[in-house]
Amino acid sequence: MSELQKNGARELLFGDLWEYAPAPESRGHINLAESYGHFINGEFIKEGDEFTSVSPSTEETLSTLHIADDAMVDRAVKAARDAYDNVWSKMPGRERAKYIYRIARMIQEKSRELAVIESMDGGKPIRESRDVDIPLAAAHFFYYAGWADKLEYTFPASSVSSIGVVGQIIPWNFPLLMMAWKLAPALATGNTIVIKPAETTPLTAMKLAEIIQEAGLPPGVVNIVNGYGKTGAAIVNHPDINKVAFTGSTEVGKIIQRSIAGTDKRLTLELGGKGANIIFEDAAIDQAVEGVINGIYFNQGHVCCAGSRLLVQESVHDEVVRKLNHRIQTLIVGDPLDKNTDIGAINSREQLSKIQELVQSGEQEGAVRFATQCKLPDKGYFFPPTFFTDVSPSHRIAQEEIFGPVLSVMTFRTPEEAAAKANNTPYGLSAGIWSDKGSKLFKMAQLMRAGVVWGNTYNKFDPGSPFGGYKESGFGREGGLHGLLPYLEVK
Ligand code: NAI
Ligand code: MG
Repeated sequence: MSELQKNGARELLFGDLWEYAPAPESRGHINLAESYGHFINGEFIKEGDEFTSVSPSTEETLSTLHIADDAMVDRAVKAARDAYDNVWSKMPGRERAKYIYRIARMIQEKSRELAVIESMDGGKPIRESRDVDIPLAAAHFFYYAGWADKLEYTFPASSVSSIGVVGQIIPWNFPLLMMAWKLAPALATGNTIVIKPAETTPLTAMKLAEIIQEAGLPPGVVNIVNGYGKTGAAIVNHPDINKVAFTGSTEVGKIIQRSIAGTDKRLTLELGGKGANIIFEDAAIDQAVEGVINGIYFNQGHVCCAGSRLLVQESVHDEVVRKLNHRIQTLIVGDPLDKNTDIGAINSREQLSKIQELVQSGEQEGAVRFATQCKLPDKGYFFPPTFFTDVSPSHRIAQEEIFGPVLSVMTFRTPEEAAAKANNTPYGLSAGIWSDKGSKLFKMAQLMRAGVVWGNTYNKFDPGSPFGGYKESGFGREGGLHGLLPYLEVK
């Protein structure tokens, strides 16, 4: 009998009491090539050193890709420049919109295949790729398609125009969704693009390249090159790139910032976070616990706006911790393609080591560790949902972005103390507030030095809502009307 069963007479019990029959999503319907080339000027070019993308849940090789060197990046930028000068910048917005709508519709048509490939390549549960990543990616294209023919009415008393060739670099936590966040506003505003997916998750980007080809987008408008950091740097440093948009680690964001200093390139950065979820004693506690679970364990915690710190009002601390511990025991960790799975695979071996190292530091610094007692799969990179109590603000697990399923719990007594603690980080991307009092929600939201604040919910995304950071979480906004501005010159 488990500890929970012994002292859990009053609790609802799931976990090891319920055996779920596996409900795997089929892989039979997907079409994945053995190798993919760079997508440049409307064609796939298989040149350059090879690398492979593996499935983090099975460690099998899924596909072989190529690394773009400086010359290949130059070829992509030249294609983008030609397409910009001769086609895309001259095309009326209403014509551009047709292509963007077409891409959105084709993502919807192929959503099942895209969801399965996303889960295979990156490790996220199929429920999330099916219900969140892919529908939101389509929604971003739909949303920005709608702006393409309305730009001249959008910013009163000014006229707007495109910037030119933009270089975009994205991370591995939301591969297709980040492609959509980057491409859709840039296309709507009339720019052409060279984009690099992350090296561990390039496959849905390659499927999107096929969609773009099939949609008949003029060649060179979107160019996709693969590779590691060096390829990213080649894009950033190419003299004919007019604007850089980067999502990823704060460390690389700073490198990019330094390397384009002194040039006339425009820059937006969407970087790391250490978001706080704040639970007041007057909150609906069960609902708040559910929100905290979603806030930190969604996508294995590989989320820049994850609620990775939990601030609980002292009077409800013990109740919240008890419920959290109970709830994490019910989370199902395992095969990303199984529809029962809550927590899939950690994206890469490197990321798993980083999480392990930080969790070890938490134990060494004296925090108390709680973790799901489930059995982890024998193969692949997995980490059990974990949280720490007795965390002090100076602990590394309270300061550093872990980017994994690990939560740090701290306490507060007054709203002012909660705000001070929530803001006590170099980051400023997100926050969540849980209270029964509307006035408290609004007051706290104003005090948060963070770009996104949720009230009695968490991790809600919508293409119409701007997203971005304060402080070391970066600058610029993506989504909404605000997401157009980084891709426009305003006169
Ligand atoms: P990263 O920042 O190195 O990678 C993000 C993208 O930047 C990738 O496409 C990569 O190839 C590219 N890149 C790397 N070095 C570059 C350079 N010098 N110039 C241009 N592009 C470059 O992130 P990484 O190493 O995959 O993850 C490390 C940590 O960063 C994670 O543990 C996590 O804490 C954080 N991270 C945060 C993300 C966020 O959305 N806030 C996303 C990814 C990582
Ligand atoms: Mg992969």
